[in-house]
Amino acid sequence: MSSRPVSNRPVSSQSLWGGRFSTAPDKVASRFSASVAIDSRLAAEDIDGSLAHARMLAKQAIISGEDLAAIECGFAQIRSEIEAETFEWDPEYEDVHLNLERALTDRIGDAGKRLHTARSRNDQVATDMRLWSRKAVTRLASELLALVDTVLDRVRQDGDHLLPAYTHLQRAQPTRLGHHLLAWVAMWLRDADRLLDARERLNFSPLGAGALATTTFPIDRSDSAAALGFRAPMWNSLDAVSSRDFLLEVLGSLSILQVHLSRVAEELVLWSSQEFAFIEISDAFATGSSMMPQKKNPDMAELIRGKSSVAPAAFLQVAMMLKALPLTYNRDMQEDKEPVFRAFDTALDSIVVMRGMIGSLHFKPSRMNAALRDGFIEATDIADYLAAKGVPFREAHACSGKLVAAAVQAGCTLLEVPLAVYQSVSPAFEADVFESLAAEAMVERRDILGGPASARVQEALELANAEATGLKHRL
Ligand code: ARG
Repeated sequence: MSSRPVSNRPVSSQSLWGGRFSTAPDKVASRFSASVAIDSRLAAEDIDGSLAHARMLAKQAIISGEDLAAIECGFAQIRSEIEAETFEWDPEYEDVHLNLERALTDRIGDAGKRLHTARSRNDQVATDMRLWSRKAVTRLASELLALVDTVLDRVRQDGDHLLPAYTHLQRAQPTRLGHHLLAWVAMWLRDADRLLDARERLNFSPLGAGALATTTFPIDRSDSAAALGFRAPMWNSLDAVSSRDFLLEVLGSLSILQVHLSRVAEELVLWSSQEFAFIEISDAFATGSSMMPQKKNPDMAELIRGKSSVAPAAFLQVAMMLKALPLTYNRDMQEDKEPVFRAFDTALDSIVVMRGMIGSLHFKPSRMNAALRDGFIEATDIADYLAAKGVPFREAHACSGKLVAAAVQAGCTLLEVPLAVYQSVSPAFEADVFESLAAEAMVERRDILGGPASARVQEALELANAEATGLKHRL
């Protein structure tokens, strides 16, 4: 077999990689490795990182003041072109970093070529991803807190209504709508807290780690770290370029958030069904059927539920990408971006849609009340009534169970079972038992921290509001 060139393209002396390479890259290989279509999203962070690096180089007299001025001027132009969407991204230049460096050098010449002194794309991309994640987490937490505010408003407006609370999707005990809505808030406040915690831990600077072992130039890593708002430089350069656990932590937090969004979405789907009819979703967040004219479907809630796999899948994708990578940087790591961006975008949209839906839905208190009437929701209170009169709780529980059986047999509610039957089950029952079983009375008796009594819901509302305010201060 005669020898063939490895590529069918003409050999280019203008190879991207300078002196070492004599053959232009294979077409398929170029397409396979180009990431600019995805990582151009890091342009703002890449420029910020480059400017902090260049300013540090000038302070350390590694580049001249004139070079720095040219770099600043070039990036100002490039930034405005990117914002105006007139900047030309070239897949030949692989990624966001090489595209921006090429554009800079096209504009300012040699000063542009000096920018990469004491730097590698390895510390550069790690820096960009940390900067991007920090911003994205802040944005997401702020939208999440706006969702919390919307729910808190609904608690203030509609929180007094009574409805059943469920276990196993069976009516269990009565509660207030505010109590239920605040349970959603509690989950979302923890989610916001978790995201902001993850942001604390990721906020350290890889810049100056170079390719993996820092540099021979006298750089000042603390200076560029401070300029970029990082808490400090990362103290091991091998770790700085190779760690991506910050992404796993953020994706883990987003996964939990998406699970919570999905659970609430499921409740909205159930509550808007004709079987429950506790709510009506606003037309703006519902859709019709192409065939059945009567249908009004809770598609937005279903999509929040359906998209909830995105962050968990992204977590898995990045975790599998990292699993067996030796230190330090490996090109596999380029594959972190797409799942991370997708997870953030999906979670953000889900929060915004959830907020619109909850803010505009209509509660139907009469249906909630109707659901309190059957389901023997008074059974626990009947047992408690006896236990409060000294009947041991286990016996009281059995007495109440007998009354439920009697009601099932008679096809009536517990309130319709005659007093004589109650007294045949236990002589401790008196006529006042029926008043004590009014839904309002049952709820108000649960006047315990965390419970549904009006004062407790009010108290929880204030606690939730204070927590939300505390989290807003951390944004
Ligand atoms: N586009 C690359 C990434 O996202 C940048 C780092 C490339 N470094 C390298 N040594 N090839 O990971």
